[in-house]
Amino acid sequence: MAKYRIAWMPGDGIGVDVMEAARIVLDALKLDAEYIPCDIGWEFWCKEGDPLPQRTIETLRTCTCGLFGAITSKPKEEAAKELAPEFQDRGLSYRSPIVRLRQLFDLYTNLRPCKAYPGNPLNYRDDIDLVVFRENTEGLYSGVEFHPFPDEVREVILGHNPIMARFDAVPGIEMAVSLRVITRAGARRIIRQAFEYARKFDYPTVTLVEKPNVLRESSGMMTRTAREVANDYAEIELWETNIDAQMMWLLKNPTDYGVLVTSNMFGDILSDLSAQLVGGLGFASSGNIGDDFAVFEPTHGSAPKYAGLNKVNPTAMLLATKLMLDWLGEIEMAQALENAIALVIAEGKKRTYDLGGDSSTLDVAHAIVDRL
Ligand code: IPM
Ligand code: MG
Repeated sequence: MAKYRIAWMPGDGIGVDVMEAARIVLDALKLDAEYIPCDIGWEFWCKEGDPLPQRTIETLRTCTCGLFGAITSKPKEEAAKELAPEFQDRGLSYRSPIVRLRQLFDLYTNLRPCKAYPGNPLNYRDDIDLVVFRENTEGLYSGVEFHPFPDEVREVILGHNPIMARFDAVPGIEMAVSLRVITRAGARRIIRQAFEYARKFDYPTVTLVEKPNVLRESSGMMTRTAREVANDYAEIELWETNIDAQMMWLLKNPTDYGVLVTSNMFGDILSDLSAQLVGGLGFASSGNIGDDFAVFEPTHGSAPKYAGLNKVNPTAMLLATKLMLDWLGEIEMAQALENAIALVIAEGKKRTYDLGGDSSTLDVAHAIVDRL
């Protein structure tokens, strides 16, 4: 029996292309693993009314961890239109399967390293090394949303917070509400992960990116908790910044920062900006990590227009594979893979179209294998 069971979830669009690249590299590394194909994605929404079928959830429970390609997501009305006729009138509503996976398996850490590999012509600067810790299960992604907004809920809120009276004249149907839930335990565990990482890899600071001057309670909870947690890490300085200003500072002085930690939605935004500083989404990897399970994915989406063309940059997926190897404790393999990726970037001979080249997805994967 293989040492690891890895759930294999290519998903949609270019997810399939980049996962093929990952498989080539994993086979070359001779990871002692079996790969279990899992159904996930748009196809299963359209055909079965569920992009994350129950059988996939059950298979995942038998696996060591998962590798995930990409998923097509569309807003509510557009998604509903593409359902098979027999599912049309069942009141089904599309929810992103990756967001569901993160919550279902309590993968509370979204680890998003953004490191500039020298020689990448898309680097904003060559010396950037950022790591975003995004809370991955709550905040604005909690899924507690209302439309129409029920009168009973309004009444209860009004009883606790008079500011709600500002919306007295607005009918429920004219109002949509998404709750930004931050729990102390949720805040504590993501902030602790950020500090642990900073300690392990010698980052002198952890920057908490929130907005407590306006979001007094939810960002306030993040801030108060960060100050508490920071007490256990005397050698690391806690910096506190606001999300808006931080976007500007990251463009102005990206090398001032190392480990950044934030809530779910802010982390989604912050990690895309950070990715662009090191070459864009073709270079951005992501680990969804819980206490005993994890799913690794590139940060990019399914890019339907490039699907099946063997054209997109596999680097993000291969860096996600590297994160998986780290998590499995296969540190030497992880390091070998990262070194080979860095070498291929530095040599600049095999480049996909985003880098101005004409190499294919698999050309790049093979070039990396040659340098392992
Ligand atoms: C990401 C993506 C997802 C998110 C989408 C696809 C639901 O943007 O992983 O950053 O918002 O988390
Ligand atoms: Mg995103």
